[in-house]
Amino acid sequence: MTVHIPVLAGELVDLLDPAPGEVAVDCTFGGGGHARLIAERIGPAGTLIGIDRDPEAQARFEEMAAEVSCHTRFIRASFADGLALLRDEGVRADMVYLDLGMSSMQVDTRERGFSYSYDAPLDMRMDPGQQLDAREIVNTWDERRLAQLFRRLGEDPNSGRIAREIVQRRDRSPIETTGELVAAVEAALPAAVRRRFGAGSPAKRVFQAIRIAVNAELDSLDRALPLAWELLRDGGRLAAISFHSLEDRRVKRFLAERAQGCVCPPDFPVCVCGREPEAELITGRAVVPTAGEIADNPRAKSSRLRSARKLRTVAAA
Ligand SMILES: C[S@@+](CC[C@H](N)C(=O)[O-])C[C@H]1O[C@@H](n2cnc3c(N)ncnc32)[C@H](O)[C@@H]1O
Repeated sequence: MTVHIPVLAGELVDLLDPAPGEVAVDCTFGGGGHARLIAERIGPAGTLIGIDRDPEAQARFEEMAAEVSCHTRFIRASFADGLALLRDEGVRADMVYLDLGMSSMQVDTRERGFSYSYDAPLDMRMDPGQQLDAREIVNTWDERRLAQLFRRLGEDPNSGRIAREIVQRRDRSPIETTGELVAAVEAALPAAVRRRFGAGSPAKRVFQAIRIAVNAELDSLDRALPLAWELLRDGGRLAAISFHSLEDRRVKRFLAERAQGCVCPPDFPVCVCGREPEAELITGRAVVPTAGEIADNPRAKSSRLRSARKLRTVAAA
């Protein structure tokens, strides 16, 4: 059975500082590595709510629920929808956290088509019940849209060439597998560019871009952050672990906006806006993994953790 090693686990628990009896919402339950650590700290009077859109995560949650002492509940949904449901039910949380991206169970299950390292059907859906998959994007989006996707979500400097090659190949026959997609990316690049990747894959950015689009990852995050914040009690903590700059920028901006006080122009003698911070940043700079953690778990390499405490609830305007 594939095990997902939780990243920045000690750091996350330290920042969230769970206390007995508290309510925690894990928005990305995955294999439950983080959740188990939180469950230990909140104890039998605490409540742990797990959210994940992947049925495999639900199975892992059920295993965990049988072993921990706290109250448990699982919601299989996109985390934005799960948080909206909890908000509508009037649930208040002491901590909400997200560990974004894919679990090792997803990447290492060949037939789910997340990885450029295995040949498998092009899929990449975290929720296998959803309609849009990688095959549809690769075979139906027009060349301009594909190039834009690889540039915006993969930050790939060769996006135009790669999109052109994909469209030429699929005009001959549909691109059905991850292996065919990797071959198209490699064929699009001049040998000198390909050599620069060494042992790495030139398809990595393209796979990232398609996965983000299939799972609407950035839209989900944009919807989820305000909902997570709303769910927190005063004194509650929000934390997010991201794996690329597109996610981290969103988390950073969201927390900074809440931590901002007076917005009067600097030449005003006194404050007239009356704005007070809603949040105190627990992490000034993002927390990154130690060299030791990266050596033990290379998937932790690009992770960045940010966190803030809610100081007070501001009524909606
Ligand atoms: C990096 S893993 C989390 C690992 C987990 N913290 C652990 O310790 O095992 C990310 C998980 O979040 C889930 N996920 C990603 N985006 C999601 C979304 N928008 N809604 C719900 N689940 C999501 C994925 O299905 C995956 O299981």
